[in-house]
Amino acid sequence: MNTLSIKDLTLTYKNGFQAIKNISLEIENGMFGLLGPNGAGKSSLMKTIVGLQKPTSGSIVFNETNIVKTPGYIKQNLGFLPQDFGVYPKVSAYDLLEHIAILKGITHSKERKQQILNLLEKVNLSDFRNKEVHTFSGGMKQRFGVAQALLGSPKIIIVDEPTAGLDPEERNRFNSLLNDISQEVIVILSTHLVEDVRNLCSEMAVMDHGRILRKGKPGKLIAELENKIWSKPIHKNEWENYNSHYEIISRQLIEREMHITVFSHDPLPDFNPVNPLLEHVYFHTLTQKP
Ligand SMILES: Nc1ncnc2c1ncn2[C@@H]1O[C@H](COP(=O)(O)OP(=O)(O)OP(=O)(O)O)[C@@H](O)[C@H]1O
Ligand SMILES: [Mg+2]
Repeated sequence: MNTLSIKDLTLTYKNGFQAIKNISLEIENGMFGLLGPNGAGKSSLMKTIVGLQKPTSGSIVFNETNIVKTPGYIKQNLGFLPQDFGVYPKVSAYDLLEHIAILKGITHSKERKQQILNLLEKVNLSDFRNKEVHTFSGGMKQRFGVAQALLGSPKIIIVDEPTAGLDPEERNRFNSLLNDISQEVIVILSTHLVEDVRNLCSEMAVMDHGRILRKGKPGKLIAELENKIWSKPIHKNEWENYNSHYEIISRQLIEREMHITVFSHDPLPDFNPVNPLLEHVYFHTLTQKP
């Protein structure tokens, strides 16, 4: 079992902006979903875990080694797929993986070749191994990104918004790939797609404004909202009135009619009860002021 233990972590950027505010998390093998809107601090947290930037205070302990003090330890055991992989050099998928494998210290050439071929097979890119990566589609690039992350059999894999911009089919393919590998390693996935977290993650946290606002098992967080979510079709010009009296967690236009979903501890007789979903957990959490 691998463990990642983050304690009282803070990060203030050079310009004085505090992107991580006192975060503590315990993460074990399996898929952990980090859910939050744009600017929440997801990438800041991930870049800090992988050692690309030093936290201002706090500790990050991976398998009993404090990786803030010893960043080399996580680098040896890490697969990272950043949000922005940047530009790809004009080399083939195979050659690029070979280059990264050497950087990761896989020095034995026969073993390296075997690993690269296996990974290309795993991410369904064997037929494209001699094509240059910059010519790949978005989905193929992401699968290539997973292949490079898996080189060297990492114990912790961190993927930052990997499915943004993928079509539904590619997204499913990518997600099931992550799911397959998460049995024996820690996979941390950041996203603002609630559905991906619901489908894939055994543990999750909601982050906003640099803080963890809620964490736990998706199913448990959903169960906490049982009998607390209500909906109602309203007329558009009633909106202001409802908005000032209820905690509205979403509104939707369905065939030109406005449907509001609200959170309420007490039953609302003129509303319809709604089975809670993870998206209700997410929006309810975000509407609460920290
Ligand atoms: N190097 C930096 N210097 C100063 N501020 C930064 C830096 N990097 C990020 N920030 C700020 O920190 C906050 C969090 O950014 P971050 O990229 O971590 O969010 P995010 O949750 O990954 O968002 P997104 O979903 O858009 O990727 C933002 O307000 C951003 O402007
Ligand atoms: Mg980000």
